[in-house]
Amino acid sequence: MRAVRKGGEEAIVAKDAAEHAKLAAELMARAITAAVEARGVARIALSGGSTPSPAYQRLAELALPWAQTEWFWVDERAVAPDHPRSNYGAARRDLAAARIPETSFFRMEGELADLAEAAARYERLLRARFGVASAVAFDLMTLGIGDDGHTASLFPGTGAVNIDDRLVAAIPAQPDKGLEARLTLTVPVIREARLKLLLARGAEKRGVVEQAKRSGPEDAVPARVVRGGAGQLVWLLDPAAAPSAG
Ligand code: 6PG
Repeated sequence: MRAVRKGGEEAIVAKDAAEHAKLAAELMARAITAAVEARGVARIALSGGSTPSPAYQRLAELALPWAQTEWFWVDERAVAPDHPRSNYGAARRDLAAARIPETSFFRMEGELADLAEAAARYERLLRARFGVASAVAFDLMTLGIGDDGHTASLFPGTGAVNIDDRLVAAIPAQPDKGLEARLTLTVPVIREARLKLLLARGAEKRGVVEQAKRSGPEDAVPARVVRGGAGQLVWLLDPAAAPSAG
């Protein structure tokens, strides 16, 4: 592993997939423990995709104050919770070994016909859980980056990065790209997170990671939005995904 810290940002390069999962789980565990110690509860927002799955499985094997954790989602596909593409379903399977009370999972309702209503319902849920007068500041948020530069369900060229009047947005389907409609947390919520853990592996991610780390239009490379905000940002990469400058 090698680590480089610059400003509020850190880049860690794990030597292989196993170390990537182990370090991700350790960073998540540390954020959860610190939040529980400081505030009595750890609120976590999870991204989907294939990259975080081994990390979530490693995390579930650790001894943590599970009863004091609350689990939310960064984004969800417009499918039922038992659908193979459900981010909720995938994470629940990955976390199955942890003793997390059933009532601690707060999923996005991707199966609702009216996704704008599903987004509004999730926003109300977030306000209720965090306290209506408090910022929706997640203690830990995992994020991924797509080959096209998207993060969460903020896709390039759609203007989704500019949504700033809602905590949660419904994102229309993009049939030309084979993408179903989505629900996603918006940029103001992503920026509020205390720790953003951006996970990427593989050579196909190297170019977009490099672009995301460079300033420029956010609508062109939505993953650039992770760089703003008061919280800490950790890029956890593998050697193939890491730009040569680290
Ligand atoms: C989703 C995600 C998405 C993901 C990236 C990277 O629902 O698809 O939350 O933003 O993080 O697409 O996905 P991979 O880890 O599969 O490359």
